[in-house]
Amino acid sequence: MEQTLTDFQNHCRPLIDKTLFKLVEKLKAPKLLKKAMLYSLTTGGKRIRPLLTLAVLTSFKREIDEEILKMASAIELVHTYSLIHDDLPVMDNDDFRRGKLTNHKVYGERVAILAGDALLTLAFQVLTQNTPDEKLGFKLVKSLAKAAGAPGMVSGQVLDIQGEGQNLPLAKMQKMHRLKTGALFSYAVKAGLLLTQFLEQKQDKVITKKIAEHFLTYAESFGLAFQICDDILDITQTTEKLGKTAGKDIAMKKSTYPLLLGLTEAKEALGQEITKASAAIASVEKIQPTFNGELLQQFVYTLKVEVS
Ligand code: IPE
Ligand code: IPE
Ligand code: MG
Ligand code: MG
Ligand code: MG
Repeated sequence: MEQTLTDFQNHCRPLIDKTLFKLVEKLKAPKLLKKAMLYSLTTGGKRIRPLLTLAVLTSFKREIDEEILKMASAIELVHTYSLIHDDLPVMDNDDFRRGKLTNHKVYGERVAILAGDALLTLAFQVLTQNTPDEKLGFKLVKSLAKAAGAPGMVSGQVLDIQGEGQNLPLAKMQKMHRLKTGALFSYAVKAGLLLTQFLEQKQDKVITKKIAEHFLTYAESFGLAFQICDDILDITQTTEKLGKTAGKDIAMKKSTYPLLLGLTEAKEALGQEITKASAAIASVEKIQPTFNGELLQQFVYTLKVEVS
């Protein structure tokens, strides 16, 4: 029987939540720091990035145990740090996140910055301390460092700031989105592939170069689609529904698809990226008979449903 995305999420989300809580709870650090870290980490959040890693594993029929859960959850630590810093007054200056006051509103800017720093570094600690294999840990760390740092998300955030008040050409806007949001999505998928290959009993090469290429296409299109979707929702949804202040992008004069191209074209672009991602998964199904792309297909199509 096919597993639906809802079943999969209902099963995996509580496991990810528990894993994240335990990772911070057991740290030896000042109570205030741990409280600030847990405040942002344990309040909602869709957990899309770790779910994506686990969905890749599930699509290749790999078992998810506690060690794998820790490895898959590390990305959420990086993502949560990025949100805390993104919300700071000198950045997007947001008062609400995940339906609650932002970290700096509760703990002050200094502790919020440090809680972000601690979450980011904890991710790398987790990938090295909990890895079932040193080589695997090394590959994940290398890949996450690239995705989160100057070659990835941080540069995207800089381009986002530089794009404020600008009429950015489409190619530049795409590049910014790919870096600030796409890079972490690409890592999430790559982590799923690395873990899948690691769990291969017979040591056969399951993730061939061709398969990895299709997955990269899937991840890049998913990441871009995700940011376009976020930017559309920023305009069309209420603050209550979003759990973060609606209409922020207009107020900050951000360069987004709906603001620069209009809602209709933005929705078209979103549809195109979803189609690309879907086609990439279909291509993997054709060359790898043990792979079932249903979950990953459903995953990317949720973005279309969200904006309709
Ligand atoms: C928000 O990410 C930041 C973007 C990249 C648009 P999410 O929409 O995944 O945020 P949470 O984790 O569910 O709160
Ligand atoms: C993505 O963009 C943020 C990060 C890469 C951290 P946004 O600034 O649009 O995200 P939200 O809307 O604040 O969640
Ligand atoms: Mg931002
Ligand atoms: Mg923001
Ligand atoms: Mg946004």
